[in-house]
Amino acid sequence: MPDASTSARGVVLIGAQWGDEGKGKVVDLIAGRCDAVVRFQGGHNAGHTVIHDGETLVLHLLPSGILNPRVECLIGNGVALYLPQLFRELASIRERGVDPAGRLFVSPDCPLILPSHIALDRARESHAGRARIGTTGRGIGPAYEDKAARRAVRAGELFAPEAFRRRLGAALDLHNFMLENYYGAETVDPDQVVEEWLALAGELRPLIADVAGRLERLNAQGRAVLFEGAQGVMLDIDHGTYPYVTSSSTVAAGALAGTGAHLAQLREVVGVVKAYTTRVGEGPFPTELQDEVGERLAREGAEWGATTGRPRRCGWFDAVAVRSAAQRGSIDSLCITKLDVLDGVHPLRICTGYRTEGGAIDTRPVLMNRYAECEPCYEQMDGWSGRTRGISRWEDLPAGARAYIEKLEALVGLEACIVSTGPAREETIVRRHPFDS
Ligand code: GDP
Ligand code: IMO
Ligand code: MG
Repeated sequence: MPDASTSARGVVLIGAQWGDEGKGKVVDLIAGRCDAVVRFQGGHNAGHTVIHDGETLVLHLLPSGILNPRVECLIGNGVALYLPQLFRELASIRERGVDPAGRLFVSPDCPLILPSHIALDRARESHAGRARIGTTGRGIGPAYEDKAARRAVRAGELFAPEAFRRRLGAALDLHNFMLENYYGAETVDPDQVVEEWLALAGELRPLIADVAGRLERLNAQGRAVLFEGAQGVMLDIDHGTYPYVTSSSTVAAGALAGTGAHLAQLREVVGVVKAYTTRVGEGPFPTELQDEVGERLAREGAEWGATTGRPRRCGWFDAVAVRSAAQRGSIDSLCITKLDVLDGVHPLRICTGYRTEGGAIDTRPVLMNRYAECEPCYEQMDGWSGRTRGISRWEDLPAGARAYIEKLEALVGLEACIVSTGPAREETIVRRHPFDS
């Protein structure tokens, strides 16, 4: 990582748990000091909540800087793009008086998510029964598979209709074969998809731009750029709890591969974590609480998925998972959210190691298929009395809350530059702004 004293003005912000850490809120806040925000992976499986003029808004594809009229928003080549969702979201922010004209740009190299990817994702999940992953059903896995198999249809192909028709036809042919013959599911009408997608070409055209080129220019001009991650490191295709992961690179390196930005543009990687842990979907989760404390965290934290509305599983903070996510994700500093949800919880527990068949370990197991067998070892702390909700100055936090944050910093080995105490922008303690030089 380049030294922060260099002129680099790019900050990467990624989730360091299993997603839903509060990235949207933090990006929206930091965007106030940015010139551009860029999404680099994932698709509309993401659900990033921002509060705008007192109203809650969930963004799935648009970068969370979009509400700030000064901020340029970019969608990099690493994003799997479902065009109907893009235009739905644009319509919804326009309705709220936000004008994205001239400041939203999309890479022509984004692989398109097609209705058949969504049908395949859903058919596969129901076919898998108890072995299902618990995906968001947005077609993410099948779309990235097509990208890796070199048969994806990309956004820029829409502007050559004849070739688009042919390539989309070939992709749908294969998808329909699988849907019908393997899953016994309904097929998708290729002609209808071709017509619907070509009809969107006109609206897409003015958004298409060379995202890598724009980032290069922004860098040369010394502009502040925020790379907005989706999901979290524990859901990374390589480094997460495979196979219970998403299909993209959620680590900081994904910010380069998914945009074409130069490594030297980056000055810092911020990892966002909740003060506890949540996970939605299937897969191992050592610190999961299936008791009244877990229910309390879910209730006080309003832990329902921003994309699918599913209840999120809740548990204690897992310092082993976050430490390993920080290492694999190249994370330099933390942003700790939802501290207020722990108000009044006594005692607090933090996972500092795992018990395994082979003995106690303080790192994740080398073999990730043993992760489900890891039993958490906890360190216990007193909670605090008094509320943290809405506090925006470090000194105003109850001493116990400060001690808890300092404990997490020590266990993970990174400073918490931001602490969030509520869903709104102003409910935040900024101890060090990532764009301060
Ligand atoms: P993301 O996917 O990482 O952007 O996170 P989500 O938006 O899916 O989920 C985070 C949820 O927590 C949203 O409902 C936010 O409004 C909310 N939130 C964010 N920060 C805080 C906080 O500090 N305190 C509380 N109580 N809620 C928060
Ligand atoms: P944000 O950006 C939390 C989870 C799904 C499932 C797994 C695979 O809001 O943090 P997928 O649809 O990607 O194939 O599902 O990943 N998942 C998320 N969990 N937050 C997200 O995004 C997620 N995106 C996907 O629940 O377990
Ligand atoms: Mg989310």
